[in-house]
Amino acid sequence: MSSTNPSMSSTKSEPVQDPFKSWKFLLFPTMKTTEILLSLFLKAIIIISTCAVISLFFYFTFSSNQSLNPEYDFKKLFKTSNFSTSVHDEPTNISHILFGLGGSAKTWNKRRHYSELWWTPNITRGFVWLDRNLHDNEKWPETSPPYKVSSNTSRFKYTCWYGSRSAIRLARIVKESYELGLENVRWFVMGDDDTVFFTDNLVTVLAKYDHNQMYYIGGNSESVEQDLTHSYTMAYGGGGFAVSYPLAVELVKILDGCIDRYHRFYGSDQKVQACISEIGVPVTKELGFHQVDIRGNPYGLLAAHPVAPLVSLHHLDYLQPMFPNLSRIDSIRKLYSAYLMDPGRTLQQSFCYDLRRNWSVSVSWGFTVQLYPDLVTAKQLDTALRTFQSWRTWSDEAFTFNTRKVSSDPCKRPLVYFMDRVERIGGNGLTRTTYKRYVEGLEMECDRADYVPALAVQAFNVSAFNFAPDLWKKAPRRQCCEVINGPDEVNSLVQVKIRGCHHFESVTLP
Ligand SMILES: *[C@@H]1O[C@H](CO)[C@@H](O)[C@H](O)[C@H]1NC(C)=O
Ligand SMILES: *[C@@H]1O[C@H](CO)[C@@H](O)[C@H](O)[C@H]1NC(C)=O
Ligand SMILES: *[C@@H]1O[C@H](CO)[C@@H](O)[C@H](O)[C@H]1NC(C)=O
Ligand SMILES: *[C@@H]1O[C@H](CO)[C@@H](O)[C@H](O)[C@H]1NC(C)=O
Ligand SMILES: *[C@@H]1O[C@H](CO)[C@@H](O)[C@H](O)[C@H]1NC(C)=O
Ligand SMILES: *[C@@H]1O[C@H](CO)[C@@H](O)[C@H](O)[C@H]1NC(C)=O
Ligand SMILES: *[C@@H]1O[C@H](CO)[C@@H](O)[C@H](O)[C@H]1NC(C)=O
Repeated sequence: MSSTNPSMSSTKSEPVQDPFKSWKFLLFPTMKTTEILLSLFLKAIIIISTCAVISLFFYFTFSSNQSLNPEYDFKKLFKTSNFSTSVHDEPTNISHILFGLGGSAKTWNKRRHYSELWWTPNITRGFVWLDRNLHDNEKWPETSPPYKVSSNTSRFKYTCWYGSRSAIRLARIVKESYELGLENVRWFVMGDDDTVFFTDNLVTVLAKYDHNQMYYIGGNSESVEQDLTHSYTMAYGGGGFAVSYPLAVELVKILDGCIDRYHRFYGSDQKVQACISEIGVPVTKELGFHQVDIRGNPYGLLAAHPVAPLVSLHHLDYLQPMFPNLSRIDSIRKLYSAYLMDPGRTLQQSFCYDLRRNWSVSVSWGFTVQLYPDLVTAKQLDTALRTFQSWRTWSDEAFTFNTRKVSSDPCKRPLVYFMDRVERIGGNGLTRTTYKRYVEGLEMECDRADYVPALAVQAFNVSAFNFAPDLWKKAPRRQCCEVINGPDEVNSLVQVKIRGCHHFESVTLP
């Protein structure tokens, strides 16, 4: 990448891998070097020919001109680079992301529904990387992302006895994607064939960062046992991770060596992280990337999402479907239908009290509502109900976030409602999501008198204005909600309005 641009010659001895950074920070030192050189050359003038004096004069004029006009230098250098680094960069959008998805020819048909859900042909850029060419009788679906075949990795070393050599191939996707040399790529985003990306939110998150710097962005495993086994300091590959262009430039130079050096490591994500640690770039954790290293029912996790845009979900094949009565794929399609209406609000929680009835309501937008027929603190409501177990040992602990036990006493459990439909109301960005009561098969109901009015509630209608993506550029804050119908109205339906909180508004018990 270090170009033949003559102005780079004075820094030749420096290891220059990222032109932008070097140019930015070496611009002024360059001027000094030139001056030092100049004085040395002036001494030499005495003994060399007039001809040399003249040419030196021209050299001097040329270089000092350049040095005295850094603005000029700056622009000229950028023009010759392969990636746009102007300070006037336009905001990052979907076209700036190149996806690299790890797939295999054999399993693609089983997995492709996940990618096809979020992939928009001719808008989303990237490839599924396969382990081999398609056979003559195999046809690549038009709705799938385009594919490429990974190059042969038999020359690399892999010694993790419980792992698979495919980790090498997957680790090299970032390199093979980079080497395609596609234009206007700011971010390389890696994912698995069963990763569901919420691309609008991914763009929102990446746009917060300066893509001209070296960033490595993603999230941890939810299961502590996984983080202990693999690493706390890496972005888990299934949840997806993003590598900025300048980091990719440096990473691809050393990646193949790293793959051999870290031959003992199990996964591709771990090998990539080890390599990035040689460069010295730490992972920037973003709470919306979800590896979903849990077993059982993801309900609790999804009903208490952190205040951060939902970027990805993974491992859905290994969990119970998100919505009762729906298949796994139909469940994610349903959540996705809400996401399409209001991307930034997806799974965002809001809490409100109905003080006339002593009720607490927790909404996880686009997914579920919980009704507690008593007053529950915000701290409890934002703690995930433990409807799941850990990934490897199916244990009740430990997770990288707080959880609370689901009580076996029906009087200590909330009534649960699942999203039934989402629709737009009018043309000004207002949506209405409807949530319907769900009772599991033979589930016992609480027969206490104070539960009776709550049990009558069959549905919630929740209205909200579209969540402005710009809000995610500000300090995060959970939005507020209010119950807008009173006890004297229809008992079976509760209407809730979500809105930004007022000054000094908090979810505080009276
Ligand atoms: C930069 O672009 C030039 C031609 O436009 C190409 O020859 C060169 O290989 C590219 N460099 C990288 C690192 O992509
Ligand atoms: C994305 O930004 C580029 C400028 O870098 C612009 O040319 C392009 O039209 C934008 N694309 C979309 C889909 O907004
Ligand atoms: C995508 O673009 C190609 C060529 O530009 C075109 O042939 C194809 O119909 C497009 N596909 C869709 C789904 O728009
Ligand atoms: C990969 O390379 C090795 C050694 O060069 C060769 O034996 C093997 O057949 C190759 N595999 C494929 C799929 O081409
Ligand atoms: C689930 O399916 C059963 C039987 O098919 C039906 O009676 C019930 O209403 C469904 N529940 C929901 C929440 O759709
Ligand atoms: C609500 O709870 C408060 C305090 O626990 C109690 O004094 C009040 O009577 C309750 N109101 C209703 C309508 O249950
Ligand atoms: C609640 O939402 C449903 C659509 O899901 C709608 O038909 C009904 O009129 C709404 N009720 C109220 C009171 O807004």
